[in-house]
Amino acid sequence: MIRSVVRGFGAALPKRVMTNRELEDIVETSDEWIVQRTGIRQRYVAGEGETTASLGADAARAALENAGMSADSIDLIICATSTPDNTFPATAVDIQNRLGIHHGFAFDMQAVCSGFVYAMATADLYIRGGMAKRVLVIGAETFSRILDWKDRTTCVLFGDGAGALVLEAEEGSGTNADRGVLTAQLRSDGVHKEKLYVDGGPSTTGTVGHLRMEGREVFKHAVGMITDVIEAAFEAGGATADDIDWMVPHQANRRIIDASAKKLGIPIEKVIVTVDLHGNTSAASIPLALATAAGDGRIKKGDLVLLEAMGGGFTWGAVLVRW
Ligand code: ACO
Repeated sequence: MIRSVVRGFGAALPKRVMTNRELEDIVETSDEWIVQRTGIRQRYVAGEGETTASLGADAARAALENAGMSADSIDLIICATSTPDNTFPATAVDIQNRLGIHHGFAFDMQAVCSGFVYAMATADLYIRGGMAKRVLVIGAETFSRILDWKDRTTCVLFGDGAGALVLEAEEGSGTNADRGVLTAQLRSDGVHKEKLYVDGGPSTTGTVGHLRMEGREVFKHAVGMITDVIEAAFEAGGATADDIDWMVPHQANRRIIDASAKKLGIPIEKVIVTVDLHGNTSAASIPLALATAAGDGRIKKGDLVLLEAMGGGFTWGAVLVRW
């Protein structure tokens, strides 16, 4: 059985760090409120010349270097983003060009904060279906550019950045002892559209729009949806909470992360948390967290890693991958 095995990881962040204290000068908020409600202490904000494609390409270059692979060996690029450089063409195609790749194919994946989980699931299907052998899976976002900086209920929560993995086809035994993606479970339900959306778009207003969120409503649904889909992934992957070496959640809010881990019985020491450093970077948050924890040696070859996310739509999903 063909498996999609992680060969390399990389990340890229804008130069500018914005602390909670700086936000106190922009909206009526406090470092104390933000830390207590979300766990966020700082976020990175893209400056002039820094875009989703530039950050995505930098993260991809870092992942290729980490894998010891050249760009021209890649045959598919999937970029998960909700903040593309242009409405079209896809950011992934721009990244492909920035990397000097002129063969194979590239496309974007739009599932908001679940984008990276959706992109991993999609990459795995292309690899197992034989359409690709080496895939760059990127999550890249510049949410700072769709925030309403007058709305304190949203602008304090998000940040910019990018992360990437290189996946490669490898023959496995078909058991969950194999390295690579073991299972991916995806869900969506558009009935929740109004709870988290952007109030503009090419086909409605002809503008980019700003992010709008009913935070309390999102919070109310998050833990139940996340834990349900993780349980489905455990069942499909033949694993239990005890088997997990690391849980790498979408980094939206410390309280959602803690409550989900607790409900599943996963000890907090096994949960990778970077929301304090990056804020919510939507589709970039999981690969940024993976690059942080694999980079500092916590996630090691052979570890069973659980990825999970929930976001606008709603969309949600979970992936089990043996590193
Ligand atoms: N600073 C200070 N006070 C604030 C701020 C702020 N930045 N924002 C809101 N408040 C006030 C509110 O006005 C309210 O005041 P009131 O009681 O006088 O009306 C009070 O704080 C409490 O507001 P709530 O919305 O009830 O606060 P809550 O405890 O629910 O925390 C939060 C808000 C952090 C947004 C929380 O609901 C949350 O985390 N929700 C999930 C959001 C999320 O994770 N979204 C992303 C998931 S999907 C994705 O990643 C795209």
